Amino acid sequence: MGDGARVAVGLPGAGPGAYEIRIESGLADRLPDLIGACCPAHRYALITDSTVEALHARSLYERLRADGASVDLLPFPAGEAHKTRDSWAALSDRMLELGMGRDAAVLAVGGGVVGDLAGFVAATYLRGIPYVQIPTTLLAMIDSSVGGKTGVDTIAGKNLIGAFHQPRAVLADPAVLDTLPRRELAAGLAEAVKHGAIADAGYFGWIESRLEPLLARDPDALSQLITRSVEIKAAMVARDERESGPRKTLNFGHTLGHAIEALSGYRLLHGEAISIGMVGEARAGEAVGVTERGTAARLASVLAAAGLPTGFPDSMTREAVLELTRGDKKARGGAVEYALIRAIGRSDDAGGRWSRPLEDDRVLEAMVR
Ligand SMILES: NC(=O)c1ccc[n+]([C@@H]2O[C@H](COP(=O)([O-])OP(=O)(O)OC[C@H]3O[C@@H](n4cnc5c(N)ncnc54)[C@H](O)[C@@H]3O)[C@@H](O)[C@H]2O)c1
Ligand SMILES: [Zn+2]
Repeated sequence: MGDGARVAVGLPGAGPGAYEIRIESGLADRLPDLIGACCPAHRYALITDSTVEALHARSLYERLRADGASVDLLPFPAGEAHKTRDSWAALSDRMLELGMGRDAAVLAVGGGVVGDLAGFVAATYLRGIPYVQIPTTLLAMIDSSVGGKTGVDTIAGKNLIGAFHQPRAVLADPAVLDTLPRRELAAGLAEAVKHGAIADAGYFGWIESRLEPLLARDPDALSQLITRSVEIKAAMVARDERESGPRKTLNFGHTLGHAIEALSGYRLLHGEAISIGMVGEARAGEAVGVTERGTAARLASVLAAAGLPTGFPDSMTREAVLELTRGDKKARGGAVEYALIRAIGRSDDAGGRWSRPLEDDRVLEAMVR
């Protein structure tokens, strides 16, 4: 798609917090130049996971070296199980051993796990050094690399330890998604469907009509999808960096989704769990008269066509899910809050609060297998 697309992320009142997201098929070939331009540094720590290392990161490392950059490759084992304080400590210690100073920068090359962990290393190393997000999953391109949330998981839950730290740039090449397993691709699409559902009915309809090329990884279709999703997320982040107001709409499907994801023992991917969560929350919204009738059915239809689960899993009880929503860290003062939509493309502002409590019975009835 020519020169590709650029989306500026502006943060309220913060010049230094503003950065650019570039989306372009084939951009990976120009990464050494792009990195040098957006994040000049004397040394780079290229952090990646073991899977992405072999597929994409090692070749980037070699090209950076051939270009004369001083760069070290720091891989860790792939998987959510490694998004931990132990990995954070090992990576930080390794950078200290290598003698990296404040003139170093981090390159986060991988999916959301790499982005969150490497971003947290950058946020804390010598009290914060610059970093660049180079996302390699669809989820990371449209969701986790935008917004500046970094962190690690603990026994008590996911993402409980972390920091806000904005990258210098996000550089996304849809062509690297060619190697992504189909299941991971679909899980990323769930977040794109969410973006349409909460903010842009036209985009939602476009996804419905373009599912075939999207699933076939047509580079133009994927570039357009990533660009529109990033625009929507970036606009919300710019309005509300720390999630007190309208950014909450991004949690649509996530109150139920997080509980379902955890109860599955993380056998369901995040996108799969929120696919089920969005349908359930839309159904609950319809039951209380907030969400337009037929919304849940339309959501379920596009999500199922993308190969995502939409029915409440047989392996868990509805009561267990309800119980777990109470442990969601977004719950405030006992009442579990839901970021609902009014219709496809329109979020429920709930009188300026952007989320609302729902009665237990409405939630239980909404979990249809
Ligand atoms: N910071 C945020 O705002 C935010 C938002 C949403 C999700 N997240 C986090 O993102 C994480 C999930 O991200 P994810 O779904 O990208 O998971 P992930 O990083 O674990 O990637 C999924 C799998 O795909 C592999 N992979 C990555 N790129 C590949 C490629 N191009 N080809 C083949 N395989 C590839 C990875 O090695 C991994 O095995 C979670 O930890 C979640 O908490 C963060
Ligand atoms: Zn999500």
